[in-house]
Amino acid sequence: MAKEVTAIYPGSFDPVTNGHVDIIGRSQGIFDRVIVAVLVNIEKTPFFTTDERLEMLREVTGKWDNVQIETFQGLLVNYAVAQKAKVILRGIRAVTDYEYEFQMALMNRRMQPGIETVFMVPAEEYTYLSSRLVKEIFLLGGSVEGIVPSVVEDFLNKKKKKTG
Ligand code: PNS
Repeated sequence: MAKEVTAIYPGSFDPVTNGHVDIIGRSQGIFDRVIVAVLVNIEKTPFFTTDERLEMLREVTGKWDNVQIETFQGLLVNYAVAQKAKVILRGIRAVTDYEYEFQMALMNRRMQPGIETVFMVPAEEYTYLSSRLVKEIFLLGGSVEGIVPSVVEDFLNKKKKKTG
């Protein structure tokens, strides 16, 4: 019997961008199960709460049956083992991402040699995108249309109304 391959796609997703959605869409066509794992980092205060990030991710990935949205804390490799995942999936956009991603991949392999990091490249139009820039552009009054899903735009607008 063929083995089922589960991939973990970890990140902050603060917020999810069209680049993330592009990677999730591509990966669910390759792996049997993709777990999008939102890091709950108690030291950092994110822009969106964990629940908000989960809700946005669930909304944009609802069309894919083999995609699950979860949270994790602590070491990613421990979470991957607990989920019986063989793959850690990371999107890579430009050369500048490479050093950090390379370090993490090798450290994760050192801790868990049985888990492979797989890098995927998003569609060309999303290679310059990042959650940090999305927040900055939005907060400074720029348009984020076409670079985040519409549910994220709605959440951003709601947050802006609340915080003024
Ligand atoms: O979207 P991000 O913020 O670039 O994702 C970074 C993430 C969540 C993949 C990374 O910070 C992580 O894996 N954190 C969990 C703690 C951990 O395992 N650290 C050791 C990495 S070698």
